[in-house]
Amino acid sequence: MEKNVEKFYSELAADYDKVRTYTWGIDTFIDEMQRKIIFDFARKVKRDDVLELGCGTGRITAPFAFSNRNSKITAVDISKNMLQQLGKKLKSLKIKNVSLKQGDVTKLPFKNESFDLVYSMRVIWHIKEYEKMISEINRVLKKGGTVVLDFPGKYGHWSILHALFPARTKFKVPVYFFSYREVRSLLRKHGFKIKESRGLHTFLWPTSILGNRIPKLYKWIESFVSLFSFRFSKYMMIKAVKVK
Ligand SMILES: C[S@@+](CC[C@H](N)C(=O)[O-])C[C@H]1O[C@@H](n2cnc3c(N)ncnc32)[C@H](O)[C@@H]1O
Repeated sequence: MEKNVEKFYSELAADYDKVRTYTWGIDTFIDEMQRKIIFDFARKVKRDDVLELGCGTGRITAPFAFSNRNSKITAVDISKNMLQQLGKKLKSLKIKNVSLKQGDVTKLPFKNESFDLVYSMRVIWHIKEYEKMISEINRVLKKGGTVVLDFPGKYGHWSILHALFPARTKFKVPVYFFSYREVRSLLRKHGFKIKESRGLHTFLWPTSILGNRIPKLYKWIESFVSLFSFRFSKYMMIKAVKVK
């Protein structure tokens, strides 16, 4: 576990929801699309016992719990402050099927084969020991269980901008990018088989040029482009099943 990642999110917790929607509202659409993909991926799989890793303030937790009232969801985060924010949010939304637990994704405080579904969004990019995270997910998942993850793409615009302008795009905490080939071999090595994959935030230009003046067009282009340029997207969304 990296102390500076925990410190960064603990200090940001109270403002996290405000500061992360910065690009003229486009993030709102990206969030909406991401939720849609997660819901699609989860729709036909068993999800009585669900684990979310690195839940943060509940960007996904709250809508997921709301739409899956029969699921028992455990939401884990390393940062107590992020969990506190999520706790307040769940209380105000009267969501009761989520329990919160402080923990490290590389050393999960759960017994083997406890969950039907594990999902984690915008987390693996911070985890230096991401192999351990994947191996822990395998350990706590039941056989045949499903994992849904997003990996920041090595060939997406974000990674490329970062490589070209490192000083301007400097991250305050470590960020790791992945190629699809790396994702595939990582998951295979730890006993998973990829079932579905989809790109998210596949291109950049309307974000910076047109902002939220054309949200519908943006959404339409994004949905269309992401169908065939998944490997070049900002985030690769992956659904995989535990086979070993
Ligand atoms: C970018 S935020 C994403 C939060 C949320 N999943 C979302 O999509 O909005 C990353 C989250 O991962 C958590 N995190 C980072 N390293 C962690 C670790 N080793 N174990 C558990 N949580 C961790 C942070 O505290 C933070 O809440």
